[in-house]
Amino acid sequence: VFTTLVILCVIASFSADSSTVDVTRSDFPADFVFGVTTDAPQYEGATDVARKGPSVWDNYIEKFPERIQDHSNLSIATDSYRRYKEDVVAMKKLGVDANRFSIAWTRILPNGSLNGGINQEGLDHYNNVIDELLKNGIQPFVTLLHFDPPQALTDKYGGVLSRSFVADFKDYCELCFKTYGDRVKNWITINEPLIMAKLGYDFGVGPPARCSVPVKEHAPPCTGGNSGTEPYTVSHNLLLAHATVVNLYRDKFLGDQGGQIGISLVGQYVEPFSNSIEDKAAAKRLMDFEIGWYMEPLVYGAYPKIMRLLAKQRIPTFTVEEKKLMKGSFDFIGVNYYTSRFGRYLPRKPGAPIAYRSDTFARAAQGIDFIYSYPQGLQKLLEFMNQNYQSPTVYITENGITEAKLDKSLKDPHRIQYILQHLYRIKMAMKYNGVNVKGYFHWSLLDNFEFRQGFVPKFGLYYVDRNNNLTRIPKESAKWLPKFLNDNA
Ligand code: NOJ
Repeated sequence: VFTTLVILCVIASFSADSSTVDVTRSDFPADFVFGVTTDAPQYEGATDVARKGPSVWDNYIEKFPERIQDHSNLSIATDSYRRYKEDVVAMKKLGVDANRFSIAWTRILPNGSLNGGINQEGLDHYNNVIDELLKNGIQPFVTLLHFDPPQALTDKYGGVLSRSFVADFKDYCELCFKTYGDRVKNWITINEPLIMAKLGYDFGVGPPARCSVPVKEHAPPCTGGNSGTEPYTVSHNLLLAHATVVNLYRDKFLGDQGGQIGISLVGQYVEPFSNSIEDKAAAKRLMDFEIGWYMEPLVYGAYPKIMRLLAKQRIPTFTVEEKKLMKGSFDFIGVNYYTSRFGRYLPRKPGAPIAYRSDTFARAAQGIDFIYSYPQGLQKLLEFMNQNYQSPTVYITENGITEAKLDKSLKDPHRIQYILQHLYRIKMAMKYNGVNVKGYFHWSLLDNFEFRQGFVPKFGLYYVDRNNNLTRIPKESAKWLPKFLNDNA
């Protein structure tokens, strides 16, 4: 009964925005960037083509095929490695200014390190993609790591669990700056480090499936690990890897190339479940343990106070040198916003095993598997960021919604509403709270592979017909978007 009540409350308060939305393209500055996001693992397929090395997700799915809802894998995805030109045409039809896509590290360095040799065919592929985009007037925003580090580095030294990861990531990024930086002016180091740390090292439901305290609702077998320390170690290494690369870019490339660099973070807003002091503190604590985990080191050079207090010696500290490296290591923050959750105080049972989860002493009433549209949460999140993290420059680097089924009409009015309502909230945050948002990227161009659920959720502006040669067919939203972007009235 209580669970039902919680879900009803969520639905009731998450369906407040009306259906006519006061927002047009001209509400945003002329140089505001509208784009679509794609990425290597969920789009490219061709996982064993042209000497590509395996990524950690390739390896994980091979080991645990039953953990993907429809038992699919990454080998075909949307076949975008081969069809990138077709995808650029699809983008062009949308009228977008930019494409945020990611480079597959193991196409360029099959075993992850320079000493394993550079794969020229891999390097050439992204040269072609970048040139094709630019030829069509679409700006590339390049993510260097989107969940797919090389499996070889996990085999060699534990991958992101080891500090050695930083040097290999640096070499790989340097090669990318050198090769593509003459044309690429917008870089994102890492996508959603929170998800890498949680899925792989706390919940055990992503590579390398490590956890010591299983999550009942996910119920996979844990395969070693320490849920109380490893998520912190992984995040620490990813943060250091990020800052090292930003530093490198600024020192060696910025002068000649003149671009900008940032990181993309999970941007879930957390509402207090009630007005009680405990629930309010729990909601704030969840914010500190999610977005604050990364934003505070990036802005202030240290983890949030509450994290240090609760996780004590389980959370690493930054040395004086590292603090300097971390602080200010971004030109912009990429925010991936989909939905919000309630945070509710939940006392930890005495003697319960320590996990990253127990440090928050809070439970979210709703996860992300089903996306509730809650545009107000985006505005609140942007305002929270302004107040707590010194008004960073922001790009919304992902925002989108699924449908499980779509009939032949390909009507997706919920997606059009979702986009409009979120743009309206961005407009409000910019207008009334001085939030500096410089762009909006929709997730996603095409229906693609979703980590854990395979091809079940459909996030695309284009439907991909998996029974007919992966033909891309525009949904209603794909026909609506160019009209919105052209309408300055
Ligand atoms: C964020 C991730 O960056 C992306 O890989 C994923 O598909 C979307 N969220 C939707 O879950």
